[in-house]
Amino acid sequence: MKEKLEEILKEGLTEIERANDLKSLDEVRVKFLGKQGALTSILRNMKEVPQEERKEVGSLANGVREKLESALSKKSEKLEEDALNLKMQSEKVDITMPSKGVKRGALHPLTRFNNKFMDICVEMGFSVIQGPEIDTDYYNFEALNVPKNHPARDMQDSLYITDNILLRTQTSNMQVHAMEALKPPFKIVCPGRVYRNDDDSSHSPIFNQFEALVVDENVGLKDLMKMIEVILKKLFGEDVKMRVRPAYFPFTEPSIEIDATCQMCQGKGCSLCKGTGFSEVFGAGVVNPKVLEMSGIDSKKYSGFAFGPGIDRSVMITNKIPNIKYLFRNDMRFLKQMR
Ligand code: DAH
Repeated sequence: MKEKLEEILKEGLTEIERANDLKSLDEVRVKFLGKQGALTSILRNMKEVPQEERKEVGSLANGVREKLESALSKKSEKLEEDALNLKMQSEKVDITMPSKGVKRGALHPLTRFNNKFMDICVEMGFSVIQGPEIDTDYYNFEALNVPKNHPARDMQDSLYITDNILLRTQTSNMQVHAMEALKPPFKIVCPGRVYRNDDDSSHSPIFNQFEALVVDENVGLKDLMKMIEVILKKLFGEDVKMRVRPAYFPFTEPSIEIDATCQMCQGKGCSLCKGTGFSEVFGAGVVNPKVLEMSGIDSKKYSGFAFGPGIDRSVMITNKIPNIKYLFRNDMRFLKQMR
């Protein structure tokens, strides 16, 4: 019996040593220690061992089992480690390999210009608001002192959805929304898209404006002009010159138009500014008291001024973009050049 046990141990250890993967190692375990295993059957037949030898054989058998078990677990650890190493080898990532490169996005030139404009205004105490691009005739026209059949409606070729609802033709609709919602004094700006039935290389049915409105006590034309001067310098540089012309907008009285040094030729005169060195940038004016009253603001106590530049032209000029449509097509070949 003792010899048999010695043999099982020797054989077991050899087979454990030989096993070269976890599956064959498990087969060895079953062969020796499993229910039908060699060692198990010996232990099961202990009663056949003479009484006086039982104790010795029993402890010998237990020793063999312990040795086999410990050899099995050591080997299994080693095989697991080997398998892991192999896996790590095969899945190794070469971190020194040059990458394919991450394509960097960038802000759209319109967004960049808008952000710059907004930063300037926020620094001056303006709040930024946003509002509907689809609006009623009342907000886009009537409340801005442009009643139905008013000739000023011809200045803007509108895109109507129903008789009463249209794509806003100007961000000035936000003046009315702001006056209805806010208590004076307030200063708001609103960048946004506007829509008109207009289409050639310098006009697009979609374009962008930037509305500003100040309502306070005792504010007027002088404050407006000073503010515009400061903004233009921050936008286009200290050397920018500005020129003021009388104009007409139904919602402002007086109304003015502001020209600034042509950013294409820096004032030298070019085809864009028709040799004048100036190009138009802002429509502006002192808010018509009628407009304040229509939105519930006491025009005896409060006055206001407003301005509303179109920004696409400035973006086109500063980025040398020949056609306004490039701004809206989102063609990657164009956008990549704008980085
Ligand atoms: N909304 C006008 C337009 O689209 C521009 C404008 C003129 C805006 C005078 C103003 C303003 O705020 O005061 O032509």
